[in-house]
Amino acid sequence: MRHLLAIEGLHPPQIGQLLDLAESYVLLTRSGKTQRDLLRGRTLINLFFEDSTRTRTSFELAGKRLGADVINMSVSTSSVNKGETLLDTAATLNAMHCDLLVVRHGQSGAPNLLAQKVDAAVINAGDGTHEHPTQALLDALTIRRRKGRLEGLTVAICGDIAHSRVARSNIHLLSTMGSRVRVIGPPTLIPAEAGRLGVEVFHDMNAGLAGADIVMMLRLQRERMGGGSGGLVPSAREYFRFWGLDAAKLARTKPDALVMHPGPMNRGVEIDSAVADDPARSVIREQVEMGVAVRMAVLDTLARSGANG
Ligand code: CP
Repeated sequence: MRHLLAIEGLHPPQIGQLLDLAESYVLLTRSGKTQRDLLRGRTLINLFFEDSTRTRTSFELAGKRLGADVINMSVSTSSVNKGETLLDTAATLNAMHCDLLVVRHGQSGAPNLLAQKVDAAVINAGDGTHEHPTQALLDALTIRRRKGRLEGLTVAICGDIAHSRVARSNIHLLSTMGSRVRVIGPPTLIPAEAGRLGVEVFHDMNAGLAGADIVMMLRLQRERMGGGSGGLVPSAREYFRFWGLDAAKLARTKPDALVMHPGPMNRGVEIDSAVADDPARSVIREQVEMGVAVRMAVLDTLARSGANG
């Protein structure tokens, strides 16, 4: 693997190997150990054109735990604000001989474009509505650790599917690994190509959640709806009534179904606090922990594949 730009196109053994390696990093980190020799002398640059808490911080932690020099480029105070283009910014970073470039951008395809222009290994940290591959990997690791498998599970992804790169990456990964994927949401938030992606579509939340093993809630991505909800959804209160996850709707799933959310959460909009904070069902904090391990596994894999080598 030269870059990690998308889950689409990865084969089950590649996904399985990344998850196995991430599992080993969970155990290493929990035992208080690091592996700082692996990326010693390598430079990782975090280049985030959109806000992030979890992804950027966990890539920084992952890089440091493997011994890399990590630079968080602040786009808001960079020369991007003076009109420098994405490609000129990339060429500048390339001249500094960066080894690993972690990119988040509002335009779908931006990391792919960069990957053609720089020598560094490029990792997509979320591009527009396209993909967020490391999020899907950490979600899969969380599920696999709790359920022991991905194959045969019924996973319900609920909410704003249309604007969600998390949903797209999860659909590709879970389908590839043999899960049955359902998407649930109002017709305005289900993309036209959902059927082509091989998922079952539900507009009724109670029907879609029936018998599910996993419930993955998504945030309403208002920033991708033209500045507001743009008429795609009713008020937040109405949305919660029909599409928000509360204890009553969760009761439709299997009794041991897990509740997931990639974050950031909008409590009371797509998820009730009592469900989000229920330690018996919610694995939302565990997802964050798995994020660091998955990103260590991705950096490790790309480094061994000869990032800038
Ligand atoms: N899940 C996720 O991508 O979170 P951040 O936007 O905080 O990175």
